[in-house]
Amino acid sequence: MGQHSFGECREGHIPCRLQRYKPDALLLAAGGLGKSEGGDIIEHDTGFCDQTIMIQSSETYMRNLRQWLRDTADSPLEEMSAFFTKRLHDYEEHMSVWEESYRAFSESIPSKCQRILDLGCGTGLELDKIWQKNPDIEVTGVDLCADMLDKLLAKHHDKPFTAICQDYFQYDFGHGKWDAVISFESLHHFLPERKKELYRRIYCSLKENGFFILGDYIACCSEEEELLRDVYLDRRKHSAIPENCYVHFDIPLTLEHETELLGDAGFIIEKVLDGSATIIIARKGD
Ligand SMILES: C[S@@+](CC[C@H](N)C(=O)[O-])C[C@H]1O[C@@H](n2cnc3c(N)ncnc32)[C@H](O)[C@@H]1O
Repeated sequence: MGQHSFGECREGHIPCRLQRYKPDALLLAAGGLGKSEGGDIIEHDTGFCDQTIMIQSSETYMRNLRQWLRDTADSPLEEMSAFFTKRLHDYEEHMSVWEESYRAFSESIPSKCQRILDLGCGTGLELDKIWQKNPDIEVTGVDLCADMLDKLLAKHHDKPFTAICQDYFQYDFGHGKWDAVISFESLHHFLPERKKELYRRIYCSLKENGFFILGDYIACCSEEEELLRDVYLDRRKHSAIPENCYVHFDIPLTLEHETELLGDAGFIIEKVLDGSATIIIARKGD
């Protein structure tokens, strides 16, 4: 359970979404487990996560999401780096509900990988698990929030780690350099128009048969993707936020859209794992 090949029907699928920076009403998940009767929130053991998490129907989820968007309509958008700095004190505790996803993510990295690039590494929660398995794996981590990187460096001063405090849309990934490029819970803050070029650059930066492993928030349906995109664009416009300023607001894509972008960049989708985060394992073709 919790694992399917790309191409399997995901109609009616409700992806896992645990605690992102949203209220309790939106803390939910389900790994392709079907809908709860009448849209009530119920508890369910997913098997994959080996933890009891809440699931609800996509209808209820969308209703709660719309309500949450109305409730937060007047909250100003926060600049990305400032957002994470402000929450640094309890960031890792907040993300601890994702423990099993971090484990699954680390296990999805092929053992032969020796050199990896982590986009949006933050305080290194995925790296905690990766280095537990293989302490010699060489990692370059890119993050635009210096405070998140400092915390990572304090935890892992003894590891083969290079910290790059930069925007990953600007950083030069190089060519044919990495066994794997990874990213956990960072790319859902960006529009597909931006990700398209990024995925192509990731592809070129990988060694032959290298992997891009993406763990992220996936929209449960096109309606969620479109709604969040519209609200995001409206709020940016309303607050006259300059185009080059990144703000913290979730704009996830559906799995179909995300994998289409990856396919357009040349990737072959090897596997998709559904847990509290969706993990997409994409391989650079021959
Ligand atoms: C939700 S955190 C995830 C951090 C880490 N991967 C984890 O799972 O704990 C998202 C991270 O992405 C970083 N980030 C967002 N946009 C970025 C960009 N354009 N370039 C570099 N880092 C970025 C943020 O600063 C933040 O540390």
